[in-house]
Amino acid sequence: MKISQLIFNISLSLFLFGCSHTTETNTYSELGSEGWLKGNTDEKLEEVAHQLGGFSRTMVEVSYRYSELYWAGEDENWKYAGHQLEHIVEAMEDGLKRRPVRAASAVEFMEKTIPEMEEAIASEDNDSFLAGYKSFTAGCNACHSKEGEGFIVIQQPLTRLSPVRF
Ligand code: HEC
Repeated sequence: MKISQLIFNISLSLFLFGCSHTTETNTYSELGSEGWLKGNTDEKLEEVAHQLGGFSRTMVEVSYRYSELYWAGEDENWKYAGHQLEHIVEAMEDGLKRRPVRAASAVEFMEKTIPEMEEAIASEDNDSFLAGYKSFTAGCNACHSKEGEGFIVIQQPLTRLSPVRF
């Protein structure tokens, strides 16, 4: 077989594979345990997006990590504090991707409040940490007010939620 013929055959196979692949995934199918994820590709992705949840879901994670951050500071476990802040950033970024309507209210928190909290952790000093944590908390509440959720008032946690100790 000539090389040009070979290239033509390979391209044709790839093209045909591409076509069949597209039509196959766009038809109705059922995936997952007992086929709970049903529909064409768009319907299935829509269901997965719904299952990921909105900003409230993000906030449940942020809230847990906010609390852990506090106890990390109390324990002077600065690595754990850094770990929690890093994951707060990640959760916020993912949440804002899913709910871009919240992004404008989060700008100050993301660009000013979080870097200040980062610095407070890096100081490895308990007083600076507590002062930073106070501003951080104010940042949570400022966004809640902007978003019409002023009834969700965040305050320094009183009890530990997880078994992590140092
Ligand atoms: C975009 C700005 C924004 C920032 C910054 C923010 N929140 Fe929220 N928060 C919201 C919104 C909006 C809701 C309501 C979400 C909903 O009901 O869909 C919420 C809800 C909550 C809830 C209630 C969740 C539930 O449904 O049970 C908690 C707890 C919470 N936030 C904690 C925090 C903490 C702690 C911080 C700071 C570390 C914070 N939030 C920072 C916007 C923000």
